[in-house]
Amino acid sequence: MPATLPGVPNGGVSQRGHDHRHDDPRQRLIVALDVSTAAAAQKIVAAVGDSALTYKVGMQLYTAEGPQLVRDLVVSGRRVFLDLKYHDIPNTVGAAVAEAAKLGVSMLTIHSSGSGKMMRAAVAAAKARPELIVLAVTVLTSLDESDLEKIGIRGTVQDTVVRLATIALANGCQGVVASAHEASSLRAELGDAFAIVTPGIRPAGGSVGDQVRVVTPAEAIAAGASHIVVGRPITEATDPAGEARAILGQISRGADPVRAERDARDIEIINRNADQLNAEAEDTLEYQAPWDTDEKEDHRPAKKKSRKR
Ligand code: C5P
Repeated sequence: MPATLPGVPNGGVSQRGHDHRHDDPRQRLIVALDVSTAAAAQKIVAAVGDSALTYKVGMQLYTAEGPQLVRDLVVSGRRVFLDLKYHDIPNTVGAAVAEAAKLGVSMLTIHSSGSGKMMRAAVAAAKARPELIVLAVTVLTSLDESDLEKIGIRGTVQDTVVRLATIALANGCQGVVASAHEASSLRAELGDAFAIVTPGIRPAGGSVGDQVRVVTPAEAIAAGASHIVVGRPITEATDPAGEARAILGQISRGADPVRAERDARDIEIINRNADQLNAEAEDTLEYQAPWDTDEKEDHRPAKKKSRKR
């Protein structure tokens, strides 16, 4: 395992050393562009402004708009996390990663269950772009222990995540995608010198949407996440830049052990209320983002409206 990784802030309060180069919380925030058109994606990017540096392009947007959208983001100075979760024979995955490296992406995902050989092929191809971080997906958060058992995987989700992450790091991956609930075990078992990218984030006081169990940005960082992926709380906000800035503040709190401890009580209350919030959020599932409507295009960033939290 490498001792340091370019552009990869170590975990939160569990980190052993403190590197002041990573004090900018924007290094840890990834905004998910889960929309179907380049116009909608560009509108979000413009509205977020300089409150975020990295954008996740996943299956939905990539399938709809293809590589040009990625090139455009890179040319505009944004970092791209290409979340296509490659899983195929080593030769095919290596070839796909080589193409992703040419696009100029900064992070991409592969499935750790594709084998060490497949991961080595991906990592070797990524070397064409030294700053490219290869992340391994371990167990999808939609799977539980009984799903794993049906496909022949015995043991807890947690143990499986740690086992797959161990294999991923041993084969050269620079990080994993994992929930905040798994992040602390991963840090305890495998140390700090790798990225943990954590989705399933909801800012304190926000709607939880269709997420089953969520954590706040501070809680994820305090648990050891190096990066958090946030989609709808930012992309569907009236003021995406303001929401992103609020989340950056919460990231900084999570990275500060004293403030994180102070926040722990609030986080506990949020988790206790998760079921209730989920029930209330059912009504919001039909919500349509303003930029997904057929109304006439308005590319001006949303008016600033600070949210009290
Ligand atoms: O829910 P939200 O809009 O913040 O999701 C952002 C991204 O995180 C989505 O692209 C989704 O695929 C991913 N995600 C995930 N696992 C979860 C929740 C969200 O991979 N448990």
